[in-house]
Amino acid sequence: MKDGHNQYAPMAGVAALRQQVVNKVNKLHGSNYDAETDVCITAGGTQAVFTAISAVVNPNDEVIVFEPAFDCYAPAIKLMGGVVKSLELTPPDYRIPWDLVKKLITNRTKLIIINSPHNPTGTILHQDDIKELSAIVKNQDILILSDEVYEHLIYDGQTHHSMARYPELSQRSFIVASFGKLFHATGWKVGYCLAPAYLMHEFKKVHQYLVFSVNSPMQYAMAKYLEDERTYLDLPSFFQQKRDYFRVGIAQTAFELLPCYGSYFQSVKYQNLSNESDVDFSLRLTKEAGVAVIPTSVFYTQNTDHHILRLCFAKKKETLDEAIEKLINFKP
Ligand SMILES: Cc1ncc(COP(=O)(O)O)c(C=O)c1O
Repeated sequence: MKDGHNQYAPMAGVAALRQQVVNKVNKLHGSNYDAETDVCITAGGTQAVFTAISAVVNPNDEVIVFEPAFDCYAPAIKLMGGVVKSLELTPPDYRIPWDLVKKLITNRTKLIIINSPHNPTGTILHQDDIKELSAIVKNQDILILSDEVYEHLIYDGQTHHSMARYPELSQRSFIVASFGKLFHATGWKVGYCLAPAYLMHEFKKVHQYLVFSVNSPMQYAMAKYLEDERTYLDLPSFFQQKRDYFRVGIAQTAFELLPCYGSYFQSVKYQNLSNESDVDFSLRLTKEAGVAVIPTSVFYTQNTDHHILRLCFAKKKETLDEAIEKLINFKP
């Protein structure tokens, strides 16, 4: 701000930031994105999701969404007159049942939305998922919206299977990312979308009149931070330590841990403590124990209740310690 970057940024974003983004993605994934034609800086991941959906979904188009799903997908699809075709995933691994996906495909299927690492479950896509997805979209007029906002929060040496790694997928994909997640600065609300030029052209038609220009000084700041690749390459170990620390703590409580391969979310079962619905139990835990949790059923259209809660470990050590102590002492 003091350097005077206080006027409108270019519509697609500050050139230095677009360049840093494509340098990073192309280096990490061997892709070939172009800073001029294939990227747009957005006001966070949410805006990128909305803009991508509204750029391509027309009335009666079908969009396949895997649930539990982050809450901003379905409203955007419905607002565009599209039809949400949801497919429920089940704990503990929440793997995508690709044989059922095949059955959902019709000549109206416009888009498949994937999210890895996944909110709320902390699961990730594996190499065989990529194979299945590639086979399903091959020779079809189906696009992909890949929500990769947790791309660098992936643990145990696992690979993040970005769509950018696979030309047959990236040529039909919008990839959504968020500097909020990358730089522990969710309140800054800056993200981006990557797509091949023909899709980005459509994306920008919406972006131009929805947002036009994203916060200038923050974009210069993000570009500067991205010059140091440790800001993102060190993230997996930073958050893996928190995950491991939190899991050791939770193991001392009556809650049962589910796997966490990525994101900063840890799912737990509470069957040893209560038969209540996950919504009722979450409210009680928040009010009586003083630990705010999210019931997983709210991420399902049908409010499917597997009696699982989502906790977040992107917190200071003292906050995690306090939460663990409260959960150990909680007597329902
Ligand atoms: C899966 C997922 N996608 C997108 C977003 C939105 O990102 P942003 O805060 O940059 O809008 C979030 C934020 O929680 C998220 O969890």
